[in-house]
Amino acid sequence: MIKICTSILVTVFCLPAVQAHPQSDHKNLRHWEIASTDPDRIFLTFNGDPTSRRAVTWRTAAKQNTPAYAEIAKATEHAGFAKEATRYTAQSEALNLNIDTANKQGQVTYHSVTFKDLEPDTLYAYRVGDESNHKSEWIQFQTASREAKPFKFVYFGDAQNGVLSHWSRTIRMAYQTAPDAKFALHAGDMINISHADNEWAEWYKAGGFIHSQWTGVPVAGNHEYIGRTPAIKNKLSIQWRPQFTLPVVKELPKELHETVYSIDYEGMQLIVLNSNRLMAEQKPYLEAQLKKPGYRWKVVSFHHSLFSPHRGVSANSKKIATEWQPLFEKYNVDMVLQGHDHAYTRGQLPIRSESGHVKDSFQTMYVTSVSGPKQYQVNPEHMKEFSKQGLETIRSGEQTQFFQVISADENKLNYKAYTTTGKLYDEATITKDFNTGEKTIKQEIPDIKERIFPNGSIKRPKSF
Ligand SMILES: [Fe+2]
Repeated sequence: MIKICTSILVTVFCLPAVQAHPQSDHKNLRHWEIASTDPDRIFLTFNGDPTSRRAVTWRTAAKQNTPAYAEIAKATEHAGFAKEATRYTAQSEALNLNIDTANKQGQVTYHSVTFKDLEPDTLYAYRVGDESNHKSEWIQFQTASREAKPFKFVYFGDAQNGVLSHWSRTIRMAYQTAPDAKFALHAGDMINISHADNEWAEWYKAGGFIHSQWTGVPVAGNHEYIGRTPAIKNKLSIQWRPQFTLPVVKELPKELHETVYSIDYEGMQLIVLNSNRLMAEQKPYLEAQLKKPGYRWKVVSFHHSLFSPHRGVSANSKKIATEWQPLFEKYNVDMVLQGHDHAYTRGQLPIRSESGHVKDSFQTMYVTSVSGPKQYQVNPEHMKEFSKQGLETIRSGEQTQFFQVISADENKLNYKAYTTTGKLYDEATITKDFNTGEKTIKQEIPDIKERIFPNGSIKRPKSF
């Protein structure tokens, strides 16, 4: 970096020159939106086998003093672990934010590294930065075990609006409730306008270090495809691929890369789908994944809800019902985790015989949830319609920000929905015979009145 040296009295100050990109205009930006030489927006993701690999992505200003890198070592009680760290040179890519003309910052740089050959079930510490003094703190995470062990993860429905002002309390309460969660599933619509960098800035500030400590599993929602200018209308957020280093499934169309992938975590198969587009094209991939033997639990997540409590049947839900739902039933998926509808419902479908006969036993739990402040009402007419399709709705909620903690332990999969104030609102436990695949569900609804406000007695605030 070029330095400007100036002499005031006898003291010499050397100040780093601000290398403003020609197109950048930092006026009216909040200081924490502006990329600098210090790494920010540090986000940990799965990329390959979670027992031995993890990826990290971070951002700096356009001008980088030296090549960026990440370091990783087994975490020890003594700070000397840092001397044993292995260094990985980052892949760096420039992103011109002003492709969306409402962004003003110009060019920034994203860096990524995939840590490989890690030992299973081991606590690691990593940091990102460069040769200069611009480094992150050491951040710890645990690799997955090769054997099925008890673990938990967190699931969020849409954050979308008021992300810093109101969603921050949800992710922070989730961290307070399950700090040892191994990953966090974000079921789409993390922001409102897909390419708006000020909104992504809020999302990172709301989560802070949590985004770099929990491994994140992002799902693309419709708001990750909303553009403000014709060139990027209906295009995946320009930040998505630079800021999330996710698995690329080569056999899928390029358009779906890094939005459709699966994770094998200690006996659980988590499949992420893209409910925005090319849904039929994802079907062979979905079936190939679900066919794989050896999983104790199968969980699928996508953004648009199959059983939308507010919107009812939509074009997207019809496609989900046609293309994907038969596979959920055929392969005995345990949970389907969704967002989009800004309300809460948890329901379940029973096992059907090949002739369509409904058996009196549990097959798949369907959850629609919301973690941000924007809220819609549950429409009882839609829920009645869904009941004709066999859905038994167990618990609903409105005007409530939620997060969920899902725990796998032996032959049980426990689901808990909490409100953003930390109250347990809904609970159920699935028990499975791993030899036969037969399962039962135990509803454990807390003694809290269902938060349903039929006459709109809680009004949605005009802004957040
Ligand atoms: Fe949505």
